[in-house]
Amino acid sequence: MTLSSPWRTDFPALAALDAQGQTYLDNAATAQKPRAVLKALSAYYLNGAANVHRAQHLPADRATRAFEATRLGVARAFGAASPAQIVFTRGATEAFNLLAYGLERHVGAGDEIVVSALEHHANLLPWQQLAKRRGAQLVVLPLDDRGDIDLAAAAQRIGPRTRVLAVSQLSNVLGRWQPVAELAALARRQGAFSVVDGAQGAVHGRHDLAALGCDFYAFSSHKLFGPEGVGVLYGRETALAALAPWQFGGEMVREADYQDALFHDAPMGFEAGTPPVAGVIGLGAALDYLNGLDALALADHEAALHAALLTGLAGRDGIRLLGEPHTALACFRVDGVHHADLAHLLGEQGIAIRAGSHCAMPLYRRLGLDGAIRVSLAPYTDGDDLQRFFQALDRALELLR
Ligand SMILES: Cc1ncc(COP(=O)(O)O)c(C=O)c1O
Repeated sequence: MTLSSPWRTDFPALAALDAQGQTYLDNAATAQKPRAVLKALSAYYLNGAANVHRAQHLPADRATRAFEATRLGVARAFGAASPAQIVFTRGATEAFNLLAYGLERHVGAGDEIVVSALEHHANLLPWQQLAKRRGAQLVVLPLDDRGDIDLAAAAQRIGPRTRVLAVSQLSNVLGRWQPVAELAALARRQGAFSVVDGAQGAVHGRHDLAALGCDFYAFSSHKLFGPEGVGVLYGRETALAALAPWQFGGEMVREADYQDALFHDAPMGFEAGTPPVAGVIGLGAALDYLNGLDALALADHEAALHAALLTGLAGRDGIRLLGEPHTALACFRVDGVHHADLAHLLGEQGIAIRAGSHCAMPLYRRLGLDGAIRVSLAPYTDGDDLQRFFQALDRALELLR
């Protein structure tokens, strides 16, 4: 297979993985890091680490400027009007937990929180638990035949009792873009907050969150070629102002006395304690790297790879794709073969894929399945990766059938 990637050599881990006989096709779980990110991380540590915002010395000033430059970079990359709309968290999961606590006072007994049937646990369980804490009802939007959130059903179920709508932009199982702008508009009409899980979607294409119209949007740095332990929560200014702080400590407080305290507004008011300084700086380097890529060439490469993956799967007997993924991944099952057995044999041949229910157990239950195999792609994936995957798949299926 041709399909070479001009970006592969920017990611030193790929040569290391090649040397270990590993073909990395688990990019929806986490992505490898470009050299630019590794350099930014080591420069920060080698030149002198320092805490941000609090000190007057040179290393602190340098760290603070780099940290805040990332906030500005994220705001620009995602179409936020102001960097004050960008809160750094420890990941997408933490962002949803922050929201579920921050919005708690807006949800009462008998109110409704609306999620969809395809949510990742990260954007389901915080809302499920909030509903339990407040005596509210969790409403689950059904999917249509293609596995997309059913807009007609959503229009009926998002109503005057809805306080929060939380939906995924791109399913980590079905690989399909969801109509989040339309859903956010339905929520807005009812005066409900809209939350979009961008953990998978943020990685593919460019996004204009102001145009998308949601109140909140969250993603993790590590899937976007940045370091682990960092996430981003974007909020519309009025939506952020409606949030109560959820973690208390240094950085987020304006004034404190023994019995009471006053807190900062967003973003600082939601960044209690020492933030992941190196990680945020690394995320800034990842965004700079991504912004420097030829977006059209990248989209073409991703589309060609994805088409090759789908064609290869479709050409093999007994393989059942889950839905019709739009981009970047494919989940599948094989007739008469358990996904765990297949994953084991693929792993033995150095193929790094993900098997199981992909942190979306309720979705799998609804589909009547106990799991599947997921292959997921990145800009550095190339035709050789796919060829090795298909060879290993054929060998594994020969053994298992
Ligand atoms: C759709 C979706 N939402 C949320 C998450 C949670 O991301 P993290 O574990 O980085 O917080 C993931 C991670 O796999 C995901 O795929």
